[in-house]
Amino acid sequence: MLAGFALSMAGIRDSEAYRNIVREQCSIAVAENAMKWGPLRPAPDSYFFDDADELLRFTEANRIRMRGHNLCWHRQLPDWFAALASKQNARSLLTAHIRTVAGRYAGRMHSWDVVNESIQISDGRADGLRNSPWLSLIGEDYIELAFRTAREADPSALLTYNEYGIEAETPVHAQKRAAVMLLLRRLRQRNVPIDAVGIQSHLAAGASHRYGEGLRTFLRECRELNLEVFLTEMDVDDRELLAERNARDGMVADTYEAYLNAALPSGNVRALLTWGVYDRQTWLDHEEPRKDGLPQRPLLFDDELRPKPAYSRLLSSLQRYPSGGAPI
Ligand code: G3I
Repeated sequence: MLAGFALSMAGIRDSEAYRNIVREQCSIAVAENAMKWGPLRPAPDSYFFDDADELLRFTEANRIRMRGHNLCWHRQLPDWFAALASKQNARSLLTAHIRTVAGRYAGRMHSWDVVNESIQISDGRADGLRNSPWLSLIGEDYIELAFRTAREADPSALLTYNEYGIEAETPVHAQKRAAVMLLLRRLRQRNVPIDAVGIQSHLAAGASHRYGEGLRTFLRECRELNLEVFLTEMDVDDRELLAERNARDGMVADTYEAYLNAALPSGNVRALLTWGVYDRQTWLDHEEPRKDGLPQRPLLFDDELRPKPAYSRLLSSLQRYPSGGAPI
């Protein structure tokens, strides 16, 4: 079982304390932003690899495996994309990007999130596919094209489909799980090279958020398809909790533990990463802020990089299911 964090360039560049935590805690890491299209593609005909290269030099020097995130997504595309991409050139834009980026790091990556978040039930299609620019420009086989191109570019990285909103015991999550499973089965039937599923695991604390049977069934179905599972972006949104800090930290820790106790016994969870190292850098304060204006406390380390209750609870779950399998 590999474990670690999504890393920010600011943390890696500016803070020895941050680097130390990463060195101590991670056996795997991922760039929070540096390997996405936006940061990598300042202009249609040029690539900016400095940040991604620097990150990989740091992780390799510290024997930390690296995940790539991501090769094909509807968000964080560069500004020029909308103006330039067309039905005529979209296939070659996608394949050239994948060949260049996955090819540059070939042999050095643990895995790549090849396609990210391609299901959106509310877009209304029978197959659940999201109305992303890739779908409208290329058609539904863009997913297959991305995976096949990634395999050619880096035959040794584990190729992953990464998705959110498929963890909880709600009808909305259940519907999305079903659409993701349909997609995975279709990819398998068509011999598309795919090795793993990334369950993002953006969790939420509070009475209405439960994790259990639906997730267990999904994990079993992944195993039947011979797919490994990575929990790729764990954190706990605490918007529904009252402000008091200790109680909040306790309930966030409860959520991590309940989730891992549902997920880890499945036997095919091979890696687990939180989406950020410490609370101060969480994306949730920008995209899902609390109503009372307090910062969210979703991660394992606090603003001073001290471990929180969630850290020890996560460790004890990992010790209980050391290989993502049966309890010891
Ligand atoms: O770096 C630029 C900076 O130069 C610029 O001045 C500034 C102005 O807005 O933006 C900065 O970029 C921001 C970037 O984060 C780095 O901080 C982008 O605007 C902002 O959109 C971007 O947000 C990221 C978000 O994905 C959007 O793509 C978050 O950091 C990142 O945590 C989040 O991660 C996603 C995963 O990739 C996929 N799953 C969901 C997860 C959370 O949304």
